[in-house]
Amino acid sequence: MKALIASGGRGTRLRPITHTRNKHLIPIANKPILHYAIEAAAEAGITSVGIVINADSDEVPHAIGDGSRWGIRITYIPQLTPGGLAQVVALAEPFIGKDKFIFYLGDNMVVGGVRRFIDEFEKSDSNCFLTLARVRDPERFGVPEIRDGRIVAVEEKPKNPKSSFAVAGIYLYDHHIFEAVKAIAPSGRGELEISDAHQYLIEKGYRVGYTEITGWWKDTGKPTDLLEANRLVLDNITPSNEGTVDERSTIAGKVVIQKGARITNSVVRGPAIIGEECVIEDSYIGPFSSIGSHTVVRKSEVEYSIILRECKILDVGIRLEGSILGNDVEIVEASGKPLVHRFMIGDQSRVEVV
Ligand code: G1P
Repeated sequence: MKALIASGGRGTRLRPITHTRNKHLIPIANKPILHYAIEAAAEAGITSVGIVINADSDEVPHAIGDGSRWGIRITYIPQLTPGGLAQVVALAEPFIGKDKFIFYLGDNMVVGGVRRFIDEFEKSDSNCFLTLARVRDPERFGVPEIRDGRIVAVEEKPKNPKSSFAVAGIYLYDHHIFEAVKAIAPSGRGELEISDAHQYLIEKGYRVGYTEITGWWKDTGKPTDLLEANRLVLDNITPSNEGTVDERSTIAGKVVIQKGARITNSVVRGPAIIGEECVIEDSYIGPFSSIGSHTVVRKSEVEYSIILRECKILDVGIRLEGSILGNDVEIVEASGKPLVHRFMIGDQSRVEVV
């Protein structure tokens, strides 16, 4: 069993954060999203992992390395232009060969790992095994039509979904998937859709099985999904403290304080994570906040937010909530007269003021 992880694409729905960073490297609870997929594969005992990357960037190999830190071997497979998930699979054929494999979209997150899915796939004797999650907005996803406990069709982003399930971005295949991805034509959005490959397998009479994801699953396609995934991961963290907390501070609930972080005269109410070498002073950090390393928060309040590295949040009179800040962002009190809001904001940013 091998693993194939997709990490390409442009992440347009997550701009501006993705102007300067591959979306798969955005941190959730201070760890790049992509790590969760790699860890899931490693935990399931898979040692050979292929990662499909944008050919014009070495950002992912640079950040992830050769896999030795997880005890696995990573092979990078370049994709020249984003052409859909079925194209990603087609590109991986030389790497996969005749092995069975798990295809994991690097921006998907699932609790509890993937071993259960692999075991069920092996037992089911399917050619293709899909993981399904109940969602409120199936029209955003690939959607199965299920009759008498069997998937009879799969449709990509249907206007009239035939079920309330999304096909999650964790798929299990044998080599027949390569026949399917080579046989299909590009969709209306110009992509080789993985759902069309599944539909092909169904029509050709191959066995397409499924299981339901009963715990939480997230596709982190939109900013609100990132915040939600961050909330879910933080909800399951084990508290630890490798920093310093002075006696005037209160740490309540599950809080991870990473190496060298300093918390003075502040309240941190978990679940939350405070990154390495952060300084939190005279401030309040509320539930579901991830504060990246080397960030300074002084006389300010942050809650339900993802703050990346080296930010400065200083003397801000209003609580930041539901916010995502990139690296090296400053939000500071305006000084001087007149009393104004002063912005210096890059392309496609969004600010809400009161
Ligand atoms: C892709 C797939 C879709 C699947 C989803 C899961 O959608 O095309 O079938 O349900 O991932 O995350 P996309 O992220 O390309 O919109």
